[in-house]
Amino acid sequence: MKQKILVAGGTGYIGSHTTVELQNAGYEVVIIDDLSNSTIEVLDGIEKITGVRPGFIQLDLKDKEGARKALQANPGIKGIILFAASKAVGESVQQPLKYYRNNIVTLINLLELMPEFGIEGIVFSSSCTVYGQPDPENLPVTEDAPIKPATSPYGNTKQINEEIIRDTIHAGAPFKSIILRYFNPIGAHPSAEIGELPNGVPQNLIPYLTQTAIGIRKELSVFGDDYDTPDGSCIRDYINVVDLAKAHVIAMDRMLEDKSEKPVEIFNLGTGNGVSVLELIRTFEEATGVKVPHKIVGRREGDIEQVWANPERANKVLGWKAKETLADTLRSAWNWQKRLREKGIQ
Ligand code: UD1
Repeated sequence: MKQKILVAGGTGYIGSHTTVELQNAGYEVVIIDDLSNSTIEVLDGIEKITGVRPGFIQLDLKDKEGARKALQANPGIKGIILFAASKAVGESVQQPLKYYRNNIVTLINLLELMPEFGIEGIVFSSSCTVYGQPDPENLPVTEDAPIKPATSPYGNTKQINEEIIRDTIHAGAPFKSIILRYFNPIGAHPSAEIGELPNGVPQNLIPYLTQTAIGIRKELSVFGDDYDTPDGSCIRDYINVVDLAKAHVIAMDRMLEDKSEKPVEIFNLGTGNGVSVLELIRTFEEATGVKVPHKIVGRREGDIEQVWANPERANKVLGWKAKETLADTLRSAWNWQKRLREKGIQ
């Protein structure tokens, strides 16, 4: 058994897939999650896949005393992966203080507690949102591309979080960090035991698309076909969630085995391929044989026209590469949607 890891937000979408990969790699996982955007049944899915039920504490990490008690009750945690955060761009515009409080206080609490408990490293979930709309010469985007002013409070929290980590470590905090900037994580575990479970009407493309394909939603709205892209719809880099999860295991190994080249390292996690919304719908239809009723509507406020990753640094330095094809990834999302129907959840 490798060391013990705290996965903050471990019952969420990316957190649950990462917990599976950590356990498969021999780590012992303790999850802290307040279940504000996930359910306790996720633990059953993780256990079915790995044969191991992770430790679980239901706690809002804004509660620093509660977090301290949780760490006291689980001695020996060596690393933290921080997923716990609010992540709906639109909601963040409506409720900025919720986002600033949730996403910033949680990080500060954990950073303050790490030295008390001898925790050596923290992997932080960041986002390509920090690049805003990169200038054309910066596409595909590398980690050295300029950070653009955030277009939403959510995006701003990711930028501020990155700065908080850098400043804290620069000031001599006794731990390391790896910041992972995700592009657009999609898909589900191939077992269909875990996947994305949005609350209410999905804001993100894939859950809306699979809910439309299965008949929960009437039709998918494509937000704009008048962008300066080959087919006019927005371009993103859709990365398989299991591939993404595996990068966290590599990042954790790297910090705990003292292989980091710098106390704070930053990596883009994407495939390197830009795919438009319309291409993605077509690929889904071809991969599953299921039609997705859709219509073109106006642009969504705040949307980025096109962004995709240059993942070379992660490829070379971490030895990590996205492996799954888009078609397989979309099939996994579809299988998960069908599983939800079997369970009567959606
Ligand atoms: C956004 C954030 C990202 C965040 C993610 C999580 C930005 C620039 N990006 O990603 O940082 O991590 O949300 O919530 O802030 N689309 C449709 N119809 C739909 C839904 C989406 O056409 O019903 C299109 C969008 O216009 C976009 C693409 O699908 O081009 C992907 O959208 P979405 O899944 O919401 O992710 P992002 O906006 O890229």
